[in-house]
Amino acid sequence: MAETHNSETHNGPDDEGKRDFIHLAAGAAAAGAVGAVAWPLVAQMGKAADTLAAGSIEIDLTKVAEGQQLKMLWRGKPVFVRHRTAAEIAEAENTDISDCPDPQTDDERLVPDNAGNLRPEFLVMVGVCTHFGCVPVGEAGDFDGWYCPCHGSHYDTSGRIRKGPAPTNMAIPPYTYISENVIKVG
Ligand code: FES
Repeated sequence: MAETHNSETHNGPDDEGKRDFIHLAAGAAAAGAVGAVAWPLVAQMGKAADTLAAGSIEIDLTKVAEGQQLKMLWRGKPVFVRHRTAAEIAEAENTDISDCPDPQTDDERLVPDNAGNLRPEFLVMVGVCTHFGCVPVGEAGDFDGWYCPCHGSHYDTSGRIRKGPAPTNMAIPPYTYISENVIKVG
């Protein structure tokens, strides 16, 4: 609940975006009643004021424990940083993408670090359903990833749409590793 309140204090760039976010926060709360995970709220870290003004945020990956998800606001939209478990990674990598409405390998949804290595434990996504913009609930749905309660879209552990009306996978925002454990989104 605290997370919802906090989100409303970070106004998006336009009224429409704010309405969507509030609407979705309500959807997530409703889903919480059936046992969905409440994401830990981690305060904006680092250079909050200047980086937000520049349209970018820095995220310390060490703050996200395995099996947890951090949700932050970036340009008025939620960004999920999921520290995936080995089982979640295996599920994402072993999916036959020919069955996916928006075929994309798990590797294609990751950005390499400065050494050129993929870090599959960290999945970074724009946490917005590609149907009508609700915020999906984590660790839910038929594919153990995210579930959008608004109209029933199911995303897998890579954030790929697998079932329901959403047309495409959840988006990957532009981000880079600026050190071993810090990424910059935007
Ligand atoms: S907004 Fe997510 S299923 Fe419609």
